[in-house]
Amino acid sequence: MKQYYIIVFILLVLFSCGENKKPVDGKQLFLTRCITCHGTDGNAGLAGSAKLGTSTYTKEQIMNTVKNGQKAMPKVDLESEEEYQAVADYVLSLRK
Ligand code: HEC
Repeated sequence: MKQYYIIVFILLVLFSCGENKKPVDGKQLFLTRCITCHGTDGNAGLAGSAKLGTSTYTKEQIMNTVKNGQKAMPKVDLESEEEYQAVADYVLSLRK
């Protein structure tokens, strides 16, 4: 029985390591954190939000908007600098 617990413990450790190494997916972050206001294509304009497809913001400005909020947009807390970078890259990719 004791061995069983040890195996479960090792599996949990392995699993959590794998979880941390998961590549940051900007699209997935956008779909979970931004579409409620900006819509799947970034242009829904709900709650008076800016249309991201025609925004002229630089990557830096997008990251600052997410980190600090902007007028009616509340700041969105992400987990790491990489996540801010990834979601900003995805926002840039929404432009035609
Ligand atoms: C609660 C609704 C809401 C959520 C959630 C939200 N936004 Fe916004 N966003 C807004 C609003 C409203 C504005 C317009 C702010 C203004 O009037 O300047 C805005 C503006 C922006 C702008 C500025 C564009 C420009 O040209 O002025 C960017 C970039 C942006 N949002 C990106 C994001 C990203 C990326 C996420 C997800 C991480 C996100 N937003 C989540 C409501 C939201």
